[in-house]
Amino acid sequence: MTYVPPPEVLKNPPNIPQKMLFGPGPSNMSSEIRHSMDNPLLGHLHVEFCQIMDDCRAGIQYLFQTKNPLTFAVSGTGHAGMECAIMNLLEFGETFLVIQNGIWGARAAGLGKRLGLNVQTIIVPEGSAATVDQIREGINKHKPKVLFVCHGESSTGVAHPLKGISEICREHDTLLLVDTVASIGATKFDADALGIDSQKQLKKLKIGKLKLFHFILMH
Ligand SMILES: Cc1ncc(COP(=O)(O)O)c(C=O)c1O
Repeated sequence: MTYVPPPEVLKNPPNIPQKMLFGPGPSNMSSEIRHSMDNPLLGHLHVEFCQIMDDCRAGIQYLFQTKNPLTFAVSGTGHAGMECAIMNLLEFGETFLVIQNGIWGARAAGLGKRLGLNVQTIIVPEGSAATVDQIREGINKHKPKVLFVCHGESSTGVAHPLKGISEICREHDTLLLVDTVASIGATKFDADALGIDSQKQLKKLKIGKLKLFHFILMH
């Protein structure tokens, strides 16, 4: 019988030096956040845990400048948030229109294809953003259930203008899904003022309680 002994290397703690990280991610946390990992665990039904969830929601509402009560954090990576939003807003075969001006639009389109959606794209050259006219044309043509736009396209550094998009979406009952993973906190983002979709819009489209929330992704 094969015996695999415990590796010697695991007898020592890993070597993790302090590094300067200048990319859109990963990034180092403040020592206050790092030290919070020393806290003991709570169960997900403890009242203290529920209070922390409520406090986090208040903080996220502030960060995104929204009063949407259906605001919450997905405990996962940005990819997990993207997949969660796309999967919960669209059913198999429904139309998902993606503005693609870099890898994050391409990634959203790829996720949509693997979920069996009818993925359509507005492809604009990397380094630029789609115009309001291009978006209107795309929505008129494809009548999508959801439009995806990456606010901070970290592969090229483009901050996609968001003004005027929600008005076009509303005209066609299209939901607006915005990826702010790389932009939130770094550049201005006022979800309610921009008309980023909320609970009211979901109710109008008869998307029920279990179906999602606030279409903004964050780290
Ligand atoms: C704009 C954007 N969206 C989504 C992601 C995915 O996030 P994660 O790496 O946490 O899965 C990234 C990661 O860099 C990103 O820059």
